[in-house]
Amino acid sequence: MLIGLLIICSRDHAAEQTGRSVIKVQDPAVPANLALPPLRHLPGNGLARTPPMGWASYNKFGLAVDEKLIRAIADSLVATGMRDAGYVYLEIDDGWQGKRGTDGVLRPNDRFQDMKALSNYVHGKGLKLALYSSPGPKSCGGFEGSYGHEDQDAESFAAWGVDYLKYDWCSASAIYTGADEMRAVYQKMGEALRATGRPIVYSLCQYGIFEVWKWGPKVGGNLWRTTNDIKDNWKSMSDIGFSQDGLESYAGPSGWNDPDMMEVGNGGMTIEEYRTHMTLWVILAAPLLVGNDPRTMTNDIKEILLNREVLAVDQDTLGKQGRRLIRNGAAEIWAKPLSEGAVAVALFNRGASLARISVRWSDLGLNGRYKARDLWNGADLPDATNSYSAEVPSHGSVLLRITK
Ligand code: GLA
Repeated sequence: MLIGLLIICSRDHAAEQTGRSVIKVQDPAVPANLALPPLRHLPGNGLARTPPMGWASYNKFGLAVDEKLIRAIADSLVATGMRDAGYVYLEIDDGWQGKRGTDGVLRPNDRFQDMKALSNYVHGKGLKLALYSSPGPKSCGGFEGSYGHEDQDAESFAAWGVDYLKYDWCSASAIYTGADEMRAVYQKMGEALRATGRPIVYSLCQYGIFEVWKWGPKVGGNLWRTTNDIKDNWKSMSDIGFSQDGLESYAGPSGWNDPDMMEVGNGGMTIEEYRTHMTLWVILAAPLLVGNDPRTMTNDIKEILLNREVLAVDQDTLGKQGRRLIRNGAAEIWAKPLSEGAVAVALFNRGASLARISVRWSDLGLNGRYKARDLWNGADLPDATNSYSAEVPSHGSVLLRITK
């Protein structure tokens, strides 16, 4: 019953802000109210200088993860060229956790034999291992959380060779209230991870509550979710993606806004829509955690996920998140500054029919003539110009890289 309630709660995270619900902490060794650290500003850990890229289990597999699947995904990330394109973090999301021993140490559940051996396997493939936990007694899927065992769990993760932790609020909403407590809870795990001495990317997942982008870096976060969960449909993806304008000043090397894991290839959108999903995420300098099954992806999906020039926009070392410059009905133009004075420009058609979308470089604050390259087509436009115009299909996008 408790688990059922938690699952329902977890899918409407915004509702969790409204107050405490009654979740009893059942482990007698763990006090009902933990001491939280005084708020401070943790120095940066220097990780994730560009947005993290990888694969995460939740969007496709939900809670049904096991060691065999994870090994097969590791193999596939290598075989498909995903790893070499930069998708190096392999994240086991919710569903791996078992029970604690009498020593308080968390074990994986019986779908996983040995986390250290699995981690060695993943590392042996040239990948990095990412894992999931919650500051609450239970995860969103009802599995064991880190509540009252933060230091111990951080040590286990480090001992297993974990390189990245996603820390998901979930049932912590029943225990803690207010912005300061939430921040202290995330700081607590941030400190615990630092104390292990292992470089571990820290991914905050609390759905953007209390303007996390303003304090995420201070608790040691390298990325922080800005929204509720994405779903594999146009409305969910586009509502999330297009609502990120205004957050750009909070993103930069080692600290990224996270509009959630990707749905490209999961079947609920058209190829055009998935391409727009990718265009948006790279313009946003978003972490690119793909959530499909790489073992069965079609060539169309590969072309979206493996386009190196498109990925380079996301991974540009200047580390700037793009923003909306023009909105004209269903047409939007977004731009992202790139290193060496280049600019990525995206034209989006959110409408139901084909639309002509035009942009002048002066709209971007650029004077004179510029060269442009169409990144999805891999083609330079013939001449340097001061404008661009294209017919963009419904829910489609164009991505240009312009240079002097
Ligand atoms: C929450 C998170 C998701 C996923 C699930 C797992 O809903 O926001 O990203 O981790 O929990 O149960």
